Amino acid sequence: MADWYLYVIETDGQRLYTGITTDVERRFTEHQTGKGARFMRGRKCFTLRHQQRIGSRSLASKAEYAFKQLKRSDKLFWLAQGEIPFHPETGKLSITAAATTTPNHKQRKTQKAAESRLRHENSRIIQSGLEMTTEAKQDPRPYGTEDASFQAAGGEEGIKKLVDAFYKAMDTLPEAKRIRDMHDADLTVSADKLYRFLCGWLGGPTLFREKYGPIAIPRAHAHLDIGIAERDAWLLCMKEALKDQDYADDFKEYLMAQLFRPAEFCRTRD
Ligand code: HEM
Repeated sequence: MADWYLYVIETDGQRLYTGITTDVERRFTEHQTGKGARFMRGRKCFTLRHQQRIGSRSLASKAEYAFKQLKRSDKLFWLAQGEIPFHPETGKLSITAAATTTPNHKQRKTQKAAESRLRHENSRIIQSGLEMTTEAKQDPRPYGTEDASFQAAGGEEGIKKLVDAFYKAMDTLPEAKRIRDMHDADLTVSADKLYRFLCGWLGGPTLFREKYGPIAIPRAHAHLDIGIAERDAWLLCMKEALKDQDYADDFKEYLMAQLFRPAEFCRTRD
């Protein structure tokens, strides 16, 4: 029986098209030459953003349906992970993913409140002028489109600096002691992994996958004891690291709000 794949193509204008096929390369060429779905006709500049082996045709159809139900921001989140955690029998997003991407009313309220607290806290810091620079970058694209965030973060060099400052903060902040102790004494590999992950996550080159293979952030942290205090300690290190970076103020704010999501996904307990 042929293996079916789910694929995601990004067109000009950053529209995402999701489909299934037994031969991604052939299907991609068909789309490029106007033989694919009507949605794609007349569009240019296709990029194959993702392909993932699913299994049977019926499972692939279910996975396609599940993925198409997601909001664009959630789709982008999973694409940045490199692997979408479909359930091997139902094709739905795995329990962890479904619980976090489609939260119930109470979870949604808690998440919204936490995001709002974080935004509030960020703007308080910005207003008090403690650490933010006022220099704005000239890129007209909104953060989150193409590689606008990657560029705003200073590309590979900028992200390397950010990650170094992040682990320096983890090494020194008393609030971060518990999460520092979860890591190896030598942080070289952790720093390399986070730097590579963030490059791809911010829309730049997918350096993590190139060196270490696919990653799903919740799964990569499933063995760790991460509650709210640990999540917040991680975010605090990032906030501390951002103080030293020459980023636009609104990008610092944007980044902290965006990082809340994967940090929350890493939580393994209340
Ligand atoms: C919520 C709090 C978090 C804690 C306490 C935490 C802690 C850790 C620890 C201890 C490791 C090393 C695991 C090991 O060697 O077995 C790790 C790996 C990693 N973390 Fe986190 N992390 C958190 C959030 C995040 C977030 C939000 C991101 C990305 C935005 C991230 C990205 C990574 C990556 C890419 C790795 C490497 C995974 C691998 O080896 O495959 N972490 N994290």
